[in-house]
Amino acid sequence: MAGMMNEAVTLRPLCVGDAAEMAVVLSHPVLYRYTGGQPPSEADLKRLYVIQNRGGPADRSEMRLNDIVTVGDDQQAVGFVQATLPADQRSAEISWVIGRPWQGLGYAGRAALLLTDDLRTRGVEQIIAHFHPDHEASQRIAERLGMTESDVVVDGETRWTGFLV
Ligand SMILES: CC(C)(COP(=O)(O)OP(=O)(O)OC[C@H]1O[C@@H](n2cnc3c(N)ncnc32)[C@H](O)[C@@H]1OP(=O)(O)O)[C@@H](O)C(=O)NCCC(=O)NCCS
Repeated sequence: MAGMMNEAVTLRPLCVGDAAEMAVVLSHPVLYRYTGGQPPSEADLKRLYVIQNRGGPADRSEMRLNDIVTVGDDQQAVGFVQATLPADQRSAEISWVIGRPWQGLGYAGRAALLLTDDLRTRGVEQIIAHFHPDHEASQRIAERLGMTESDVVVDGETRWTGFLV
């Protein structure tokens, strides 16, 4: 097994130098079952991370947090979480991805809680997520964050919303 449930989960801001390690973390095709797409190459990730490291569009119409999820004393990268905040920063669209070898160990749930703790301290009041209606693990994570399912479906993904109090 690649990880252990009692290992500490931490978030740290993603940097361009993470591309090589993350290309391995994100290499399993099953990760794209509900979201579409395919495993990115290291070069793809480098290009993406250069853009993501800018933190959002130059006009500041929105702000993005991109965090690597790490576990254990050696800070092994296991996935990432993201939040996109509109200019007023009162809400955030959030998402989570954990690499196949580290799934089922509670890491996404703990990373999502760390992300929402961070958002709460930034004054964010509402969280929003979209994912495929058959995606049970994401439903469980959203429920644990106190989110509820809405009737809104965007590109085949159901919108979930919740409040940070
Ligand atoms: C969704 C994802 C991040 C979950 O990662 P994970 O680290 O395995 O999740 P956790 O171990 O924290 O489990 C979260 C909950 O889902 C449940 N769960 C995990 N895998 C499951 C599965 N295959 N089927 C049903 N439930 C599952 C867990 O039991 C847990 O529930 P609990 O809180 O009641 O104990 C991971 O599957 C993933 O990266 N998928 C691909 C990317 C994706 O589609 N992301 C969603 C976009 S928002």
